[in-house]
Amino acid sequence: MSQKLVTEAYVGGVWRGGRGGTFAVYDPATGAEIAQVADCSSQDVEEAIEAASEAYLIWRHTSVKERAALLYKIRDSLLANKDNLATTITRESGKPLGQSAGEVGFSASFFEWFAEEARRQYGETIPSSVASKRMVTIRQPVGVAALITPWNFPIAMMARKLAAALAAGCTCVIKPAEDTPLIALAFTKLCEDVGVPAGVINVVPCSRERVLEVGAALCDSPQVQVLSFTGSTAVGQWLYSRCGLTVKKLSLELGGDAPFIVFPTANLDLAIPGAMASKFRNTGQTCVSANRFFVHESLHDEFVSRLAAAMDTELKVGRGLDTGVNQGPLINQRQHDRLVKMVKETVAEGAQVVRGGTSMSGLYYPPTLLTGVTPAMTLAKNEIFGPVAIIMKFKTEEEVVKLSNHTRRGLAGYFYSNDVSQVWRVAEAMEVGMVGVNETLMSTCEAPFGGVKYSGIGKEGSKYGLDEYSSLKYICFGV
Ligand code: SIN
Repeated sequence: MSQKLVTEAYVGGVWRGGRGGTFAVYDPATGAEIAQVADCSSQDVEEAIEAASEAYLIWRHTSVKERAALLYKIRDSLLANKDNLATTITRESGKPLGQSAGEVGFSASFFEWFAEEARRQYGETIPSSVASKRMVTIRQPVGVAALITPWNFPIAMMARKLAAALAAGCTCVIKPAEDTPLIALAFTKLCEDVGVPAGVINVVPCSRERVLEVGAALCDSPQVQVLSFTGSTAVGQWLYSRCGLTVKKLSLELGGDAPFIVFPTANLDLAIPGAMASKFRNTGQTCVSANRFFVHESLHDEFVSRLAAAMDTELKVGRGLDTGVNQGPLINQRQHDRLVKMVKETVAEGAQVVRGGTSMSGLYYPPTLLTGVTPAMTLAKNEIFGPVAIIMKFKTEEEVVKLSNHTRRGLAGYFYSNDVSQVWRVAEAMEVGMVGVNETLMSTCEAPFGGVKYSGIGKEGSKYGLDEYSSLKYICFGV
């Protein structure tokens, strides 16, 4: 493959090496090294923050129309370069090519959306209780934004944050995931090519060994006003506490533990495709993936046999670049070994293997279906992040709502029911930020994405996404 890759850091409009030398990026499908990428140190981060601070002095004063025009150009460039970008995503993350192309289109949608929303950052007039005062609010950008992005949707999560930040008038320092820096750099090159001014976007990739140093530099800088992170709850907790010292605004999209409930009135013709899409999209490596299936005892056996049949006919494991493949490898050895261990433990605890459960070569893991799972078993207590579906039986609505809420995480939840009263009751009772009723594909630029409890704070996308990067100022006039 002779695709030219961008491997340097981008600071103040200059492509350059990192003070830590370089680190290797691997293709999870083959284990082969794809590239050596600049390994940034805390000093590189400080320089990137300085460049973003300087650029902010100008960028914050650009008109919303100018910013919107640039965001449209980024959208167009993403779409025009979709195939190349998709190939880069697939090479470094293993994601099947069709899904990678879909991710690029999804990314473009955020630039279009926030180009539109940039022009609707309204303030208000507030009726005063005294005749001698007039009161208004205006929205202003918060300043420099630090964006820490994940490997599972390496361009879409960058796009969802970056488009909102730029629209609001912030400048950015981006730390892409160690496994997937190449797509972040390729995307940044496109942004440079369409005319994003120097310093407005800075990218500081780093190796796993330097993550702590780089993360700390972003958290500790008083010049960084907002930090947005998508990733694990454990890392989010660390960032949250570290950012307390500089009292930053925070937007955290953390781990999920989505329940997927099949009630007695469910239409299995919808529930089975919904389960397949939610569980196996991106080989199960999504934070909104169905993590725990609860199926009413009256439908349990039929649901299991139809899900197993769909897995047999619809899932094809292999290299993401190969035609027809929709299940790629897991991202790295750590994630692979973690999944293998959790499945083994759950089977030892008494779960029955209906499909999969055996090992494959390399970082591949077979689509797996386990029944007879109980809430106390290992997989039911952890975020699975892989192509493993675990099924638990239930008898009553009260019991299943309690079980589904019995978790510290609360990102997404899904259920299938055709009982209208039940739909409202359960949607309201679920302790999550997003509910899918008879639907599992909910992510879209128009709707607010975000969780409750240990799944994070803040919303991405939608009209609320701009709030993370702007502050509301109150102005009082004496007249
Ligand atoms: C994820 O962050 O894992 C899910 C992203 C999305 O569905 O928008």
